[in-house]
Amino acid sequence: MKKIAVLTSGGDAPGMNPGIRAVVRTGIYHGIEVIGIRHGYAGLLQGDFISMQLESVGDIVQRGGTCLYTARCPEFMTEDGQLRGYKNLQDAGIDALIVFGGDGSFHGALALHRLGIKTIGVPSTIDNDIACCDVTVGFDTAVQTAIESIDKIRDTATSHERTYVIEVMGRSAGHIALQAGLAGGAESVLLPEVPYDLKDVLVRLERGIMRGKKHSIIVIAEGAGSGVEVGKYVREHTGLDVRVTVLGHVQRGGAPTARDRVLASRLGAHAVELCRQGESGKMAGTQNGELCAVPFETVFAAERKPDMSVYDLANILSI
Ligand code: ADP
Ligand code: F6P
Repeated sequence: MKKIAVLTSGGDAPGMNPGIRAVVRTGIYHGIEVIGIRHGYAGLLQGDFISMQLESVGDIVQRGGTCLYTARCPEFMTEDGQLRGYKNLQDAGIDALIVFGGDGSFHGALALHRLGIKTIGVPSTIDNDIACCDVTVGFDTAVQTAIESIDKIRDTATSHERTYVIEVMGRSAGHIALQAGLAGGAESVLLPEVPYDLKDVLVRLERGIMRGKKHSIIVIAEGAGSGVEVGKYVREHTGLDVRVTVLGHVQRGGAPTARDRVLASRLGAHAVELCRQGESGKMAGTQNGELCAVPFETVFAAERKPDMSVYDLANILSI
């Protein structure tokens, strides 16, 4: 193993920077040349390659986003695009590619693996929707950001005696909503994985009002529906003073938490180690805190469901 490349793909996730730092520094430590590919698979197709040195990743361990930039690249989903990507890697003499990203990015890495390039994926997405690992890089920071925002909204909700519907990200998964809903003390948490009836949301609100509650928080995952629509429904059926906040991309930014920095550093270094061992077509993750390597196909065949005991607890605690 003489030359490896690293790229970040799909939605950025806080922790990608410490992850890139770990790949570069572990690689150089082992005498491997490290190439950074900018703008994800789009950069792979355009040959946007840069040489990475120890100092290229200085002062980024604490930064959100990704110094290699990221992109979504529909062209790479075609066979022709993948062949061109393979050829560009071959021409550059790259032995292995480490991909930080989510499910989509891993499909791209699997395609390259099948073409003959060694690839290792590091699960990095705020959505935490990748199976066979404890948690994805970026999730912890995103939940922390969501909770800080919910706490702030709670202050003004209390002052104005209002009901707030807060929509959080997660694509088609409810992991951010569940954690943020429990830790943020939401009265109702609406997830894509659990069918819900808005009448139950009204019942929970009215039960609180009967007990003298003057403000309420409803957290909805973007994959479970529109916060604006839920707000409209609650307003029309209760006459309450309802406001809606869509947290949006604020959840993708910010300094990674210590937990994300440590996870990304461990997984970045682990990915290099797997490359050195000649592994390919696998995700570098942790299971019960221990480093693991899981074939992409196994990851895709499994599904990460929200922990229903946590969901039940959120409902009990907000009774
Ligand atoms: P994430 O990696 O966070 O799930 P996306 O689903 O947007 O993000 O995927 C990121 C990129 O990975 C896409 O823009 C595309 O270039 C590549 N990709 C996604 N799905 C596939 C696929 N089935 N085959 C090959 N490449 C894919
Ligand atoms: O996958 C990360 C994520 O932030 C999702 O939670 C969200 O649905 C999506 O990306 C937003 O994508 P974009 O940055 O293209 O708006």
